[in-house]
Amino acid sequence: MNVLILGSGGREHALAWKINQSHHCTQLFVAPGNPGIASIATCVSMGYHDFEAIKNFCVKMSIDVLVVGPEEPLVNGITDFMEDAKAKSGWKGFVVGPTKAAAQLEGSKAFSKRFMQRYGIPTAHYAEFTADNYAEAQAYIAQHTLPIVLKADGLAAGKGVVICSTHKEALECLNKMLLEQQFGAASSKVVIEEFLDGIEVSVFALTNGIDYQIIGHAKDYKRIGEGDTGLNTGGMGCVSPVPFMDDAFMEKINLEIVRPTINGIKTEGLVYNGFLFFGLINCNGLPKVIEYNCRMGDPETEVVLPMLETDLLSLFAAMDNGTLADANINFSSESFATIVAVSGGYPEEYKKGITINGIEQAAGIDNVEVFHAGTKYDDSGKIVTNGGRVLAITGKATNLPKAVALAQNALSDISFEGIYYRKDIGFEFYPVLR
Ligand code: AMP
Ligand code: GLY
Repeated sequence: MNVLILGSGGREHALAWKINQSHHCTQLFVAPGNPGIASIATCVSMGYHDFEAIKNFCVKMSIDVLVVGPEEPLVNGITDFMEDAKAKSGWKGFVVGPTKAAAQLEGSKAFSKRFMQRYGIPTAHYAEFTADNYAEAQAYIAQHTLPIVLKADGLAAGKGVVICSTHKEALECLNKMLLEQQFGAASSKVVIEEFLDGIEVSVFALTNGIDYQIIGHAKDYKRIGEGDTGLNTGGMGCVSPVPFMDDAFMEKINLEIVRPTINGIKTEGLVYNGFLFFGLINCNGLPKVIEYNCRMGDPETEVVLPMLETDLLSLFAAMDNGTLADANINFSSESFATIVAVSGGYPEEYKKGITINGIEQAAGIDNVEVFHAGTKYDDSGKIVTNGGRVLAITGKATNLPKAVALAQNALSDISFEGIYYRKDIGFEFYPVLR
């Protein structure tokens, strides 16, 4: 199979790394990719916004599978566009990623909350408001318990969720989102919901909208500072398996959340071929949904795919030909930890173009994978930083503390001016790591 992956981060490097291992993989392209990806695939300089160029490339190179990494092109309808191309240009491949209507599960918080309500899927109590019922929103906040969570309805680059500890703060946030249009059209509607207390965990499924397979789970660490303090980031690290995710809890998640969600997708006639990411919170043994994402997570992919032993291209083919329910899913029995090295200053302002040293030494360590996120080649061919999250290092070992230690050990070989990473990934499970 000829494969094209869209994206350029650690998630896409991990997808390329996994797909490259498949004996079904003939040619592997990634657009636009990064220097790490370039060592295992052909990078194509094409942005994921350029649907026309992507379609032309798929036709010309006889791409069998188009794997969409990030949510934005999915929410903007790349899957529908490519389906249309099948009729018009004779393209014969398929897309891993839901249609625009189905991607609303991530693209609109209000859509996903209503969906969960219709199918009795456990989630936080909520209400939704626009500028037209602003006074009602103020009254709703005033009588609500604290903390209270405000969410911009649409995509807001991970910044659209605000947890407010006072009513005053929540009212100010409401004003910014609804009246000042802080996130443009994305905040012309807001979801206001109760705060859920517990440990977050994410579950990943591959589905064709009828059948599904759970392909892994992970816990990510979103805050910049150790002990889960400071600003939110795209993700500073991940572990899998998560100690409390035993068979009984997983079965509860499956029965109360995953299955009803897929049944809901089927009932509503949504066309969904792709990954479905369940952002969950374990509230004293009761799993509840915080959000759906219509793609894999980053850095979750960097632990989930190394742990998945099943061939990913075979699973994609099974998804496409209706045999997904019969697939065998096998997981490694080892533990995995990813630590993300970021640019100094991230998630606020940071410099780019800084030379990175030691990648090869780190990548040469047994049971370590170095996934590139924000990297690029400079004019002299050196690898330099090109984003906030620069590298994601995954360690594999017989238990979590050892996996974390291995990733940390590999990171000690890597250096660039301003490098920062958390040394406490997995801390709540293994306090001894701190
Ligand atoms: P989201 O953009 O929906 O992923 O939300 C970002 C983060 O905000 C989540 O990963 C949670 O850490 C937090 N969050 C969102 N909704 C809630 C909630 N109802 N209760 C507690 N934390 C929440
Ligand atoms: N790490 C969280 C996400 O990918 O949304």
